[in-house]
Amino acid sequence: MAPGFLQVAVFVLIYFFCQKEAHCLDEVLRLRSDLLAKYQRSVRPVRDYKDGITVYLNVALRQITDLDEKNQVLKTFCWLRVYWKDEYLAWNKTEYGEISSIMFPSRDIWIPDIYLYNNVDEQSDGGLQPGTNVKVTSEGEVSWLTPSSFTSSCKIDIGPFPYDDQHCILHFGSWTHTGVQVDLQNASDAADLSDFADNGEWWLMGMPVRREEKFYSCCPEPYPNLKFSINLRRRPMFYFFNLVLPCLILLLINPLVFYLPPDSGERMGFCMTILLALVVFLQLVSESLPKTSDNIPLIGKFFAGTIFLLGLTAMANIIILHLYYQRPGSKAVHPVIRKIFLVYLAKIFCVTNSSEQDDDEKDGNDSPDTLKISNPFVDLTQTFPFGGSAPNSPDPGSRDYGTWDCSGRVRRREPPRVTFNLEAMQTNSLIYLKEILRAVNVIVKDIKEQRADEHVELEWRDVAMIMDRVALFFVIVATVALSMAILLFSGL
Ligand SMILES: *[C@@H]1O[C@H](CO)[C@@H](O)[C@H](O)[C@H]1NC(C)=O
Ligand SMILES: *[C@@H]1O[C@H](CO)[C@@H](O)[C@H](O)[C@H]1NC(C)=O
Repeated sequence: MAPGFLQVAVFVLIYFFCQKEAHCLDEVLRLRSDLLAKYQRSVRPVRDYKDGITVYLNVALRQITDLDEKNQVLKTFCWLRVYWKDEYLAWNKTEYGEISSIMFPSRDIWIPDIYLYNNVDEQSDGGLQPGTNVKVTSEGEVSWLTPSSFTSSCKIDIGPFPYDDQHCILHFGSWTHTGVQVDLQNASDAADLSDFADNGEWWLMGMPVRREEKFYSCCPEPYPNLKFSINLRRRPMFYFFNLVLPCLILLLINPLVFYLPPDSGERMGFCMTILLALVVFLQLVSESLPKTSDNIPLIGKFFAGTIFLLGLTAMANIIILHLYYQRPGSKAVHPVIRKIFLVYLAKIFCVTNSSEQDDDEKDGNDSPDTLKISNPFVDLTQTFPFGGSAPNSPDPGSRDYGTWDCSGRVRRREPPRVTFNLEAMQTNSLIYLKEILRAVNVIVKDIKEQRADEHVELEWRDVAMIMDRVALFFVIVATVALSMAILLFSGL
């Protein structure tokens, strides 16, 4: 069916070309049959076998369909433009009614066997599929324009991801002919990008071409090939808004954990939530990148730095909480630690510590450790150690036992008579007092111990709070450094 169909197609084509002149059709048919009469499409069209054919190739990039970073595969759609001279397809214009050019189906004539060397498509071998027409001029100049989609391998360097540039090569060459037989040349110094359809993920920075001659060990002849380098720059906005910005925000709220009071019990929860969120983000990023270890993407480094910082924050928090909640009866703060934290660091970070105030208070009222009655037999009858007066001593000012009678005179009433045996009472009260003293001393000792415990606790708490400040300072410095680094690299 194909040859018949093609014949009709050519016929119709020629018909429209030569509508004006009726004899034109005959001329074209005659020219065509004359040209193809002895034509062999499998033979290189040179009259002298030793002559070479120069083939010019140019590519017009239409679209980048996909760049698969994970599988390192680039899919493009291109228009290929191939030009060469066919010595058997030239004619004398005056002999054929001034026809200067005609079309041939590319299947009918010789076409160079140009292949995409770095093709990775399973369905195609990377060759140019004949199918479209070629245009031939009376000088035998053939131009063949053919659309083609390519699936090529592309080594992807994800180092600066998502601020990366990629250079994907389309590598063309003749598969079987040496450079002597088919000399492949670039038709221009860069690919034609005038019809390029913009890509949402990439900016196309250019597509220069480089011609190389390669020598293989088999043969002395050179094998020329053309390398079209598609230079792409990623549009980073998507990644900035979806990955960098959330991570940056998590990073920035991380130092605030030190502002949470340790008593709230929320500190570790806060740390762990941020850490988990980041791990999820990292998972998302790593899914879209090739599983290679030769280069860690920038965003991965940023995430790793952030996770490291969050981990350190969590660790510092655990230590701070441990110090903050010292059990009563734990060891006192080591003098060296006290010196470093409560004196130097406290001064540097402007922390006033509560245990020091406590110390001052304590130094102010220097009370003896136990109460003692220095000479119990001397003054006991006169004064009690706790103030007030002995029950048998007269106390003129303190109480007035007098009452007013009806006549308006004050009648002196007898003070209540307390009668007791002084001797017995003295010994008795001495025994009681001793009991009381013993009890009081026990209580005082307990209170003192409790106070000492509290003091130790307070001191540890101060150490914890100063550590808190120190950690806050370093985390803020690290956070600022990390965010500045990523923002500078983002070029924002
Ligand atoms: C083309 O043909 C005409 C007439 O046959 C002849 O005069 C002319 O020299 C030819 N031209 C060439 C370039 O051969
Ligand atoms: C082929 O490419 C080179 C650069 O690689 C350039 O200098 C040269 O002009 C190009 N050839 C043509 C015909 O444009």
